[in-house]
Amino acid sequence: MSSPARIPTGVEGLDAMSEGGFIRGDMHLIAGAPGTGKTILAATFAYNAVTVLHERVVYATFEESTEYMERNMKKLGIDLAAAEKTGNLKVIDLDALKGKELESNISLLISAVKETKSTILIIDSLTALLLATESKFELRAFMKSVYKTLKGAEVTTIMTISQTPGAGFGIEGFVADSVTLLENVVDKDQFKTRMMILKMRGTENSKRYHTVTFLPRMTVSKY
Ligand SMILES: Nc1ncnc2c1ncn2[C@@H]1O[C@H](COP(=O)(O)OP(=O)(O)OP(=O)(O)O)[C@@H](O)[C@H]1O
Ligand SMILES: [Mg+2]
Repeated sequence: MSSPARIPTGVEGLDAMSEGGFIRGDMHLIAGAPGTGKTILAATFAYNAVTVLHERVVYATFEESTEYMERNMKKLGIDLAAAEKTGNLKVIDLDALKGKELESNISLLISAVKETKSTILIIDSLTALLLATESKFELRAFMKSVYKTLKGAEVTTIMTISQTPGAGFGIEGFVADSVTLLENVVDKDQFKTRMMILKMRGTENSKRYHTVTFLPRMTVSKY
C-alpha cells in the first residue's frame, strides 16, 4: 500500500517528527494547559494550508473573539484576516452559539465545511465547545458524529483541548488519530514550552520531547 497523504504543518521542525505532517482526512488533537501554544499551532497550520498549500479551511474559534485572536496571531506573522481575503479561509466565531444544543453546533460546522468545500476544519477549542453546550454527556456522541461525517468526507480535523498537566485522556484521546501534547515546564527561573507526539496512527513519529519557541514564528527543535 502507498503511504498516506500528509499535510505539512507549517511549523518548522514538526513535520520532521511526523514523517512529513498530519495525515490527510484524519482527526488530530492538540492538547495542552492554558498558554502552551495550542492556538498558535492550530492557526499556523490553518495559515500555511491556505497561503502555501492553497487548501480551503474553516477555523471555528470559541474561547477568544475572532478579532482578538486575529490581532494576537498577526503579531506572530499569522495574518488570518489576509488569508480570509483570499476566500479560502472562513473564521467562525461560535461564541454566539453558547447554550445551544451540541447538535446545532456540529451541524453548523459541518455545513460551513460543505458550503465552502473545505478540506480542513479547525475547532479551537473542543473543551470550550463542550463547556458551552448544555449537557456534559454528549462528548461520545460528538466524537462519533464528527469522526464519521468528516472522515467519510475526507476532511482533516484539528481540535485543540485543554489538558491539565499529568491528567489522562478521555474518549477524545482514544478516538483521535493523533495526539500532540504541549507543556510548559519550569526550568530554573523561567518556563519553557515543550512538545511531544503521544500518538499518530500509521506514523513512525518521534517519541522525544522537543522545545517549542513562538517568535518570530512557531518552531520546534531538539530538547
Ligand atoms: N502575540 C504574541 N506575541 C508573542 N508571544 C505570544 C503571542 N501570543 C501568544 N504568545 C505566547 O505563546 C503562548 C501560547 O499562546 P496560545 O494562545 O497559543 O496558547 P493556548 O494554548 O491556545 O492557550 P489557551 O488554552 O488559553 O487558549 C502564550 O502563553 C505566550 O507566551
Ligand atoms: Mg487558545
